[in-house]
Amino acid sequence: MSGILNEIINAKGKRVLDLGCGSGVIGLCCILKDNTKVVFYDLHPNIAPLKNHPLSREQDEVKVQDLCVGEKDESYDLAFMPFPSRSIDRPIAPDSYEMGILRNDDLVFMAFEQVWRVLVSSGEFVFFLSGV
Ligand SMILES: C[S@@+](CC[C@H](N)C(=O)[O-])C[C@H]1O[C@@H](n2cnc3c(N)ncnc32)[C@H](O)[C@@H]1O
Repeated sequence: MSGILNEIINAKGKRVLDLGCGSGVIGLCCILKDNTKVVFYDLHPNIAPLKNHPLSREQDEVKVQDLCVGEKDESYDLAFMPFPSRSIDRPIAPDSYEMGILRNDDLVFMAFEQVWRVLVSSGEFVFFLSGV
């Protein structure tokens, strides 16, 4: 968030993917910095109210799904994703706190593959630690 708000990461005029958006703080910071569009992605349906967030604009989208499967090639300028917290190889109840973490080591490789595809050649992928 501070990287965006302090303009170390330039979001102005960019089409942004906020992968594993949770509360949406990353995408919302991009909106504050006059980006063009944010797509908020998360596996958890609790993100749905982001569509009605006071900062959310007509062009912003909220998608409950796995990463950015289905997005067109070279259609974004900037993508954010938190580093997966840990690996869990068993089913996770949707109401469990475990639902709120990025799981499975393969996810990183899947994300790299998808993100490179949907970013333009000058695009940036910000892969960050959101907690310890
Ligand atoms: C640590 S939270 C990060 C929230 C937010 N980006 C932030 O920085 O505060 C990780 C989020 O990733 C979501 N998530 C886990 N696996 C996912 C997947 N395969 N695709 C999309 N989102 C996923 C979780 O539901 C959770 O909301």
